[in-house]
Parts: sequence; C-alpha cells; structure tokens
Amino acid sequence: MKDVRNKVAFVTGAASGIGLGMASAFLEAGMKVVLSDVRRDVLEQAAEGLAAHGGRFHLIAVDVTDRSAMASAAAQTQQVFGKLHVLCNNAGVGSRTSIEDAPYEEWDWVLGVNVGGIINGIRSFLPLIRAHGEGGQIVNTASIGGLLPVPPPLGIYSASKFAVRGISDSLRLALAHSGVGVSVLCPGLVRSALAENTAGLSPVAAAGSEEVVAMQSAALAAGMDPLEVGRRVVEGIRRNDAYILTHGEFKQELREVFDEILAAFPDDEGDPVRAQIEQGRRDVVAAMKLALKDRG
Ligand code: NAI
Repeated sequence: MKDVRNKVAFVTGAASGIGLGMASAFLEAGMKVVLSDVRRDVLEQAAEGLAAHGGRFHLIAVDVTDRSAMASAAAQTQQVFGKLHVLCNNAGVGSRTSIEDAPYEEWDWVLGVNVGGIINGIRSFLPLIRAHGEGGQIVNTASIGGLLPVPPPLGIYSASKFAVRGISDSLRLALAHSGVGVSVLCPGLVRSALAENTAGLSPVAAAGSEEVVAMQSAALAAGMDPLEVGRRVVEGIRRNDAYILTHGEFKQELREVFDEILAAFPDDEGDPVRAQIEQGRRDVVAAMKLALKDRG
C-alpha cells in the first residue's frame, strides 16, 4: 500500500506506548485512525494529545478478548469511516511468573490477550479490509521475544509472541493473492508502561511483583521512542514488509539461533517420496511469494 494518505487504520492497545506511537505516526502520514483500548479513561487522555488531528480519529473502548465487542467495534469503524485498510493488532501484556511455575490462570490470560486478541482482530476486521478491493495491511505486534527466547519471568510472553509470528507468517501466505499484506512487528525495548499496565490489568497475583515491575520499568524507560517505531511501521506498510524490525542490536543473537538450528539437521538428502511431497509444498509457497513480490 504505497499511498497511505486518507487510508483508515484500526489500532488496538492505542492508549499508550507503541499503539499510540503507531496511531500518531499514521495521523502524521495523513491517515485516519480508530484508536482502541481496554482502558477508556487513558484512551481519552491520550486523545487530548492528538487534538490537532481532530476529525481524523475516533476512539473505541474495547477489550480484544471480547469477541462480540470486537465485532461491534468493526461495525462502528465501518459506520464512522466507511472503510478499513490497516489493522494493527497491537494490544499486549507481559507475563509475571516464570514459565515452569505459572498457574493456568496466567497462561490463559497472557495467551488470551496476546494471541486470542489477534485472532479476534483478524476474524472481526479482515472482512472489512477485503470488502472494498483497495488492498490493505495487517500489522501484528509480536516482539523480539517472538524471535529469541527471553529469560524468566517472560517465558509465557515469549511463547505468545512466537505464536503471533507464526500466525502472521501463515496469514501472509494465505492472503498472498488477495491484495492484503501482513507484517509482524518485532521491536526490542520501546519506552512504554507495559510493566505497570500488565501489573494493573492482570487478574493473577504474582510473587515479587513490585521488584519485577521496577526492574522492567527501568529497562523500558531506556527504550526507543514509540513514535519512531510508529514511523517505521508506516514505512513497513508502504513496502509490505513481512518483518518490521526496529532494533539492529539483535542481529548477531538471531544469527546464532539460526546457526544452532541449521547445525542440528542431519546431513542426509531425505526419503525421495517425502522429497517430492515437500517440493510440491515448496512450489505452492514459491507461487505465493511471487504474488507478494509482484504486488510490491
Ligand atoms: P503499553 O502497556 O504501553 O500498551 C499496551 C496497551 O494495550 C495498553 O494501553 C493496555 O491498556 C492495552 N491492553 C492490554 N490488554 C488489553 C486488552 N485485553 N484489550 C485491549 N487493550 C488492551 O505497552 P507497549 O509496550 O506499548 O505494548 C504494545 C505491544 O508491544 C504489546 O503487544 C507488547 O507486547 C509489544 N512489545 C512491547 C515492547 C516494549 O519494549 N515496550 C517490545 C516488544 C513488543
């Protein structure tokens, strides 16, 4: 989607941090934006800072885990702006208990928001993007923790973000011939209130939570400006990037992970019947990638 001007975006988790950064960058680029968040009061406060763009944005308070509310939010978006071109499934929370000890409730909550929220976004909003035939983009916020494992207590968080990456890569192929691109955003540290918001929203008590919040908040305070992330997302949408990567400092670590995986493969050619099946699959993927390339 090379020309983003006057295109309409829906952003979840837009009351603060990366979501607000994306919404601000979209408005700056001449887009119209629906900012949505589970925290209505904070969303309204955030909107005060966007007053200069009045008339080009709309607020919807919605919990991404609530399927019927997400469907209503999609209907409201259609009513207000007529069309939707860009969906940013960005709302997310962290995990607070180490993966080996976490109770079911914490697994359910983190996966429910970080993965379930994205599924609900796709189910409710993709039909709107496909309806007008002008093409569009879905941007799913994963994390660098969706490419690299993260130490405790962020194991469940990392698992959820690996899932976001998997959903995004598969959806990109599935939509290759449709004119709707899919990007996965994998940032490193970005300045935000993720640690405090996680603690405030979590339905599950976590041992030692105050120290964890203090430690994570200090790290996040040194993060990238969310508006800068938002501007990179605009570029990623214009180019239909599969991966929107914002932090160059992770390159070597990722290379080591891929080298480790490659080194674990056996050195045989594989069974010829299997090889034929895999070639068939490869051909299908190659045709999808060609369609994506042609789209530019
Ligand atoms: P944030 O906490 O400032 O923003 C997240 C927003 O999502 C909050 O406004 C919160 O109210 C909202 N939210 C939480 N649960 C929700 C729900 N059920 N329904 C609707 N909205 C909900 O944090 P940040 O950092 O801006 O996080 C945004 C995304 O970026 C998350 O998916 C996070 O995992 C991801 N991320 C953040 C990084 C960072 O360093 N800040 C790095 C990599 C990824």
